Amino acid sequence: MIQVEEITQPLKIGYERICQCPANHINCLTPKEWIRSQVAIWELSYEKRDIRDKKIHPAVFPIALPAKCIKLFTHEGELVLDPFVGIGTTLLAAQDLNRNAVGFDLKEEYLEVTQSRLSQGRLLNDTKQIAIQDDARNIPQYLKEETVALAVASPPYSRFLDKPRLNKSMRGDLRQNEHYLTIQQYSNDPNDIGNLEPIAFSKALGEIYRGILPLLKTKAHCVINLNDLWWENKRVPTHIYVVEAMMEVGYELRNILIWDRRNLVNRVGIFGWPNNYIKLGTTFEYILDFWKPPHQKTRS
Ligand SMILES: C[S@@+](CC[C@H](N)C(=O)[O-])C[C@H]1O[C@@H](n2cnc3c(N)ncnc32)[C@H](O)[C@@H]1O
Repeated sequence: MIQVEEITQPLKIGYERICQCPANHINCLTPKEWIRSQVAIWELSYEKRDIRDKKIHPAVFPIALPAKCIKLFTHEGELVLDPFVGIGTTLLAAQDLNRNAVGFDLKEEYLEVTQSRLSQGRLLNDTKQIAIQDDARNIPQYLKEETVALAVASPPYSRFLDKPRLNKSMRGDLRQNEHYLTIQQYSNDPNDIGNLEPIAFSKALGEIYRGILPLLKTKAHCVINLNDLWWENKRVPTHIYVVEAMMEVGYELRNILIWDRRNLVNRVGIFGWPNNYIKLGTTFEYILDFWKPPHQKTRS
């Protein structure tokens, strides 16, 4: 069990703004930065600190993704939550941007990587970033109500990894790299929601976020990055199931943004031609942006 910070219930972690922005501002952005952020298609790059080694973690988003959400939806000092933190990318972004943050994951080895990444980050920081090994279902035990300014995560995409990798976006010999035909699930843990069928997955995700809703400040955003699935030559519209599940438990959908991954897809092979058009799934992912609506009732 990772325990660098003392883990108490509730956690001792800050959540108030420490910047000088006017009270009614949603973030610390300048008008120029705000204009740039209005484009709904996000092109993001991986940087040197990003880890793309699938042996360490099979599905990591770039630091740039949570960083953009943090800049858009929080102020310095506020509290960011990642319920499915993997190897800590969101915590790194929060550390860079002077935000408090807490992340949860089931797997101890991912949290060890998180801890090592955080220890290489900014030392002069007024905020804390904490990784906890626990099921996201238990998050309400750790955080006080109305304290979280942003929840951002890439959850497991419902059995997305539960099949042999075919490396379809690669050409020729490259396809048969060391990951070809391997199955790279996160874990066999029965609490891992990545092992569930799509509908059960969406419901389980909705239930986890139902527990998180009271912890959010009013109008706090909740961002979920995911992709649809192809299963037995059928499209499974996971993003639609997740939107429905989130609305069912009290969130309001604000934006659907697209993570444009064309800059990451090199050497595309030809498939489908000449009789079956299937878009290349790896060229984009969804970024679903919800918020806690102003009149949302919280637990008493
Ligand atoms: C797509 S990965 C997140 C990767 C992360 N964004 C990163 O960049 O490192 C999803 C993570 O959810 C975790 N997970 C699955 N079920 C969980 C649960 N019930 N509670 C907490 N974490 C869970 C998996 O172990 C996996 O690391």
